[in-house]
Amino acid sequence: MRFITFASMLLGLLLFSGCEPGRRTGNKGTEPATLYQGQTLDTQAEVQTIAFGSCDRQDSPQDMWPVILRHQPDLWIWTGDIIYADTEDMDKMRSMYLQQKNDPGYQALHKITPIIGIWDDHDYGVNDGGKEYPRKRESQQLLLDFLDVPPTAPVRQQEGAYQSFTLGPPGRQVKILLLDARYFRDKLDKSLLPGRRYEINTTGDVLGEAQWRWLESELRTSTAQVHLIASGIQIIPEEQGYEKWANFPQARQRLLDLLARTKPKGAVLISGDRHIAELSRMDLPGLGYPLYEITSSGITHTWTLGGSEPNQYRVGPLVVARNFGLLKINWQGDSPSLRVEVYNEQDAIQLAEPLSWSSR
Ligand SMILES: [Fe+2]
Repeated sequence: MRFITFASMLLGLLLFSGCEPGRRTGNKGTEPATLYQGQTLDTQAEVQTIAFGSCDRQDSPQDMWPVILRHQPDLWIWTGDIIYADTEDMDKMRSMYLQQKNDPGYQALHKITPIIGIWDDHDYGVNDGGKEYPRKRESQQLLLDFLDVPPTAPVRQQEGAYQSFTLGPPGRQVKILLLDARYFRDKLDKSLLPGRRYEINTTGDVLGEAQWRWLESELRTSTAQVHLIASGIQIIPEEQGYEKWANFPQARQRLLDLLARTKPKGAVLISGDRHIAELSRMDLPGLGYPLYEITSSGITHTWTLGGSEPNQYRVGPLVVARNFGLLKINWQGDSPSLRVEVYNEQDAIQLAEPLSWSSR
């Protein structure tokens, strides 16, 4: 799929829906939703290469964008920490987003590549923050401004920045579900244990009921052959002592149960936040095929202490270099085959794995 020129083409025809059931006002397949300034997205065209990444300090050197552009992705997905705002001052946050958006390298990508995304904590407004953050309504609008989401889009009217997008012709569709793991997320208590930042919140929630209802509906009604589910924080890994869905085991299990129950075709998770890259794989009873999660982080900085982190689900190497991810979809054959690749800022491949759909 190529999002060729922009000015001459009809603009931004992403199928999107981000509203609560019963409040849906978004397009229903034929009605276009224009989302992005300056580029064209033909929602009927085949998606072959999706690039994604996270953890981008707007005031750090932005040298990753030309490398990403070289791969000519059909789409760029932000998986959180687009900027490091960490503020309740919305003017400051706005100017940080503008700084990022005006970077020439990012501009070059933005000019020809559709961009969607979801936040994590730093762009949400507070490190490791959740539903208690007082400026979340205003912050949501700034995120959507940055992503060129028009004022009339349903996601502007709802609480939470979650959205879905369906791309590709019938029979070759990718559905992207961007989960908001901040707006409704319950509180975490600090842990005193070494190597663990937070206590496990055994009853806490991550998505909130409205988003859970939306997600179930999106999965149940989907016609796509591939489902990409994005979350800022990691979903599968359990051992690491930082933020993760596993800090909310009930919510994590609810998500896994929902996938096992609704059985979306070709579901793959993507995440960020961690300043590492890794591929996790779990055999989820009921799903019928292995569930993979690709974590890619960060674009401008990494975490050198991550070199020996355990993860029982990891497949392939733990990448501690700065990085971005690519998901390549081959539509030849009866069902699509997927491959994940992770590159560093030198465009050197750090991780390359086919996503096998067969159970072990
Ligand atoms: Fe984060």
